[in-house]
Amino acid sequence: MSMKKRVLSGIRATGRLHLGNYLGAVKGMLELQGDPNYECFYMVVDLHTITTPYDKETLKESVQNVVIDYLACGLDPEKSAIFIQSMVPEHVELAYYFSTLVSVARMQHLPTYKEKVKQYPKNVTMALLNYPVLMASDILMYKPQLVPVGVDQEPHLEVAREIARKMNQMYGTDFPEPKRFSTKGEYIPSLKGEGKMAKSVEGSYVNLADTKDEIQKKIRSIPTATKAGGEMTPGIKALFTFAELFLPKKTEDFKKKFNDGTLQFQEMKDAVAEAIYKELQPIQEQRKKIEKDTEYVRKAIEEGAEKAREIARQTVSEVRKKMGLS
Ligand code: TRP
Repeated sequence: MSMKKRVLSGIRATGRLHLGNYLGAVKGMLELQGDPNYECFYMVVDLHTITTPYDKETLKESVQNVVIDYLACGLDPEKSAIFIQSMVPEHVELAYYFSTLVSVARMQHLPTYKEKVKQYPKNVTMALLNYPVLMASDILMYKPQLVPVGVDQEPHLEVAREIARKMNQMYGTDFPEPKRFSTKGEYIPSLKGEGKMAKSVEGSYVNLADTKDEIQKKIRSIPTATKAGGEMTPGIKALFTFAELFLPKKTEDFKKKFNDGTLQFQEMKDAVAEAIYKELQPIQEQRKKIEKDTEYVRKAIEEGAEKAREIARQTVSEVRKKMGLS
């Protein structure tokens, strides 16, 4: 048995990845994949995707696209187990066992739940309420120390830690209390200047697949001001966040120019757009190659799922025994 510490993360299959996913989650996933002390499990969470309205005709394709994006970004099936959540049905089983320890009220108070209720008032389902419990199952199944995800997922991680504590207390299991692994880009603002970059908000995001022109157009659309100086508006702050992430050496200079009123926003925006494209271009090239190699993708997922299932079977069997079910 390997003594490596474990890492687990997942991304919902809402079409193709955007810059927020890349900076907030994938970069952390890559960093940990490169650390020989960790064994990594990275999945596409299709069961979470169906907690809100979705299209059954395109779900599989969306899932596949996220896997291909993962691979194009540098996730390596030789190093990490890459798989699809529903290929390991134990996740659902463990979530059910965990749900016996979680109150309805606790779930109703989560900010992520409240947001979704507002967004989809006609689709407030049991699956939506249970979302954090399924996520706790995803995580605790592999008993990981670290979970690379965006800062907005902290409330869900807290639920996972609570469940771990309760399980350990009541049933004598040995679930760890996993910590979030954060990256420099853990909070990526929306291009609209309000809230975070999100797939569900049109005009808020840059896709990993965007062309140079598309990126330039989108970055130019960030609401700034005609004149530099004074208080920074949310849009200007967003632009500076992108500058810090993609042009760290030039940011001080932009700031100085902003303060003395000489900053040309268009110039800064185009420099930022160019830097973003430069980082995305190799990923896009890689993607074109991987897209064609369906056998490589299929094999990566099959092997990843096999590795995941082996651990999942052990965890569920242990929980069933400790809970008095077998
Ligand atoms: N809720 C996460 C998100 O929206 C996705 C997710 C599901 C996840 N299960 C997970 C993330 C397990 C990390 C670990 O980003």
